[in-house]
This record gives sequence, C-alpha cells and structure tokens, in this order.
Amino acid sequence: MEIQRYVVRPGSLEHLTLRDDALLPPQKDEVQVAVRAIGLNFADIFSIWGLYKAAPKEPFTPGLEFAGVVIAVGPEVTRFRAGDRVMGITRFGAYTTGINISEKYLAPIPPEWNCSTAAAYLVQTITAYYGLFHLGALQPEQNILLHSVAGGVGLQALKIAKAQRCFVVGTVGSAQKVDIARAHGCDCVLVRGPKFEQELRHALGHRPLHLVFDTIGGRYFRIPWKMLAPMGRMIVAGSSRYASVGNRPNLFRLLWHYLTRPKIDPQALPEQNRGLLGFNLIYLYERIEMLPPILAHLEQMQLTPPHVGHSFPFEQMRDAILLFQSGKTVGKVVVQVAAPC
Ligand SMILES: NC(=O)c1ccc[n+]([C@@H]2O[C@H](COP(=O)([O-])OP(=O)(O)OC[C@H]3O[C@@H](n4cnc5c(N)ncnc54)[C@H](OP(=O)(O)O)[C@@H]3O)[C@@H](O)[C@H]2O)c1
Repeated sequence: MEIQRYVVRPGSLEHLTLRDDALLPPQKDEVQVAVRAIGLNFADIFSIWGLYKAAPKEPFTPGLEFAGVVIAVGPEVTRFRAGDRVMGITRFGAYTTGINISEKYLAPIPPEWNCSTAAAYLVQTITAYYGLFHLGALQPEQNILLHSVAGGVGLQALKIAKAQRCFVVGTVGSAQKVDIARAHGCDCVLVRGPKFEQELRHALGHRPLHLVFDTIGGRYFRIPWKMLAPMGRMIVAGSSRYASVGNRPNLFRLLWHYLTRPKIDPQALPEQNRGLLGFNLIYLYERIEMLPPILAHLEQMQLTPPHVGHSFPFEQMRDAILLFQSGKTVGKVVVQVAAPC
C-alpha cells in the first residue's frame, strides 16, 4: 500500500516533513488500516520537541492514535476483516495515511460514530479512566478537581466523574471555555488566575476535596495539594505548563518551571494522610491486556461521544499542532486524512 507519513527529527516542529512510503502486506496478527483520522495528544508536542522520554531520539513518525478502515489482515487475525472500521492506539507512528498494527491495539468503531469521533476517543478516555479509577480509586459522590476540564482528557474525565455522581470543580485557562465545560456537566468552572486558591475554597464550600487530577503542575498542583482531605489522592498525569507557542520549546520558561516545581517529602505523606500517584499511559502499551476490561466498563457508562473541537486536513498537520500547543483548543484536535468514514 502506498502511503504518506510525517517524519520529524526531534527538536523542532520545523523538522516535520511529509514523506511518500510503502507498507508491506500485514504480517501474522497485523491489520493494515487506511487511516482516515488522527487524534492529536499533548504528548505529541513534547515528543516533536525532543522532550518526551518515551519518544525515539532519532527521526520518527509522531502520533499515538488513529481511526480508519481495514484494508487487509494477516493470516492470524481473528477479530477484523477488510472493510471494518477500527480505532487504534500506537506507540508513535499515527501521523500517516496507512499503518500495519497488531490487532490487539485495535477496537471496532461504534456504529453511530464516524472516524473523526473515533480518533478522539481512546487515548484521552483511557487516560481519564486509568487516572480516576485505577490510581484515584474514584468513588461515587466524591468531590474532585479536574484541571483543563474543557480539553480532550478533561471532558472525558468530567463525563466519567459525573457518571459516578461526583461534584466536579473544573479549571480552564480562559473564560471562552467555561460554557463548554458547563454544558458537559461541570458543577463549577474556575478560570485559573491569581485568586485560584480563594476561588477553589469558595467552590468547594464545606465539601472535602477527595481527588485531584493534575495535568498542569506548579501552583495548580501546590494549592489543591494543601487542600486535599485526609485520605485524598492527587493524580499527576501531565505538566502542560511547560508548553509554549512556537516551533521550539522556550528554554527559559522550561527552566523556570523546572526549578520552581513543587517538591514533596515522601516522609510527610503518612503524616499528611494523602496519596500522590503519577502515570504515563505510554508505559501501559506493553500491558494491552488491560484494555478490553477498561473499554467494557466505559461502554457500560454510556458516555456521550467525545467532543471534536477542531478539525484540520492532513496537509495542515503543522497548523493543527500549533493551535493545540497554544492552549486555546477545546475537546479533541483531529486531523482528517480523507472524508470521515
Ligand atoms: N499521563 C498520560 O498518560 C497522559 C495521557 C494523555 C494526556 N496527558 C496529559 O493530560 C493533559 C491534557 O492532555 P490533552 O491531550 O487532553 O490536551 P488538552 O487538555 O486538550 O489541551 C491541553 C490544555 O492544557 C492547558 N494548558 C495549561 N497550560 C498550558 C500551556 N502553558 N500551554 C498550552 N496549554 C496549556 C490548556 O487548557 P486550559 O488552559 O483551558 O487549562 C490546553 O488546552 C496534558 O497535560 C497531557 O500531557 C497525560
């Protein structure tokens, strides 16, 4: 199969180029997918900048998720056949028009979704699920704080928490994002700013803060950490404050955020009676057997489909990434390879 794929030499978005290539027929348990839509994730930015530990250091094709149509299957494939619509995750390589991938990394697209919606689902929803349930031990009716609640992970986490009847305080970076967070059920939306601590206290009132899902870091970690209730849990999934607009990282900004990062004394944790856990989904790639039960539980929750906030054609991948790293997006940023399937 003739394909086109983006390749980047890590360090700068300027190094992202489009290449013609060819795929071999799928091997053994592999499925060959004609990619129709690619979901962007915040990790893409850091991997392109060469700042993501799990990403290759040599030129590589970025991208962690996609959706499309099965073209051919290897002899040992049991779950899919040509013509099926699938969504999938990959440890890089998704910025492409075609991919060969083991069937264990694929799931069927629900009949009522198109490929664009499907490309918006897996990474961000599993991130939200794993953080809230596996690490956060989320219980019904807890009070929780979700940062970047109008973003890709944020909206999915919000829906999961509301399905457990939790009281959710969400934060956003600008007032334009408040309405979408409210429309998805967020009980209280705070626009992050100098009065964050007072506003969070006011939003919680007498409610104990049971769980925080932190994706920003810095003071937005430090303030809720102080406010966590006994036995509360802080889940750290990212540090989006390190992002900035432009082709390359802003090194002064990076250094400043690094030097001023919160520092937690493990010996103080038992005294404080709080938990701190972190994770990176990419390391669960080798634990793919965890995926089916997670997807099954998510299906039971009957969440509404993920919100695709921005769509770009494949040729405008660079513009899509620049918008994403600006912090102005809501929901998922999707890149379309062809008409949605
Ligand atoms: N650990 C994992 O396995 C895993 C997996 C997926 C995602 N994540 C993390 O989850 C977070 C959300 O990821 P996502 O893909 O769903 O992205 P997203 O939330 O859709 O977009 C990122 C958001 O980060 C916020 N932000 C805060 N400071 C920023 C800055 N300096 N520059 C740009 N944006 C900034 C912006 O929203 P507001 O300003 O409105 O808050 C922006 O819209 C990221 O931190 C990501 O690294 C972790």
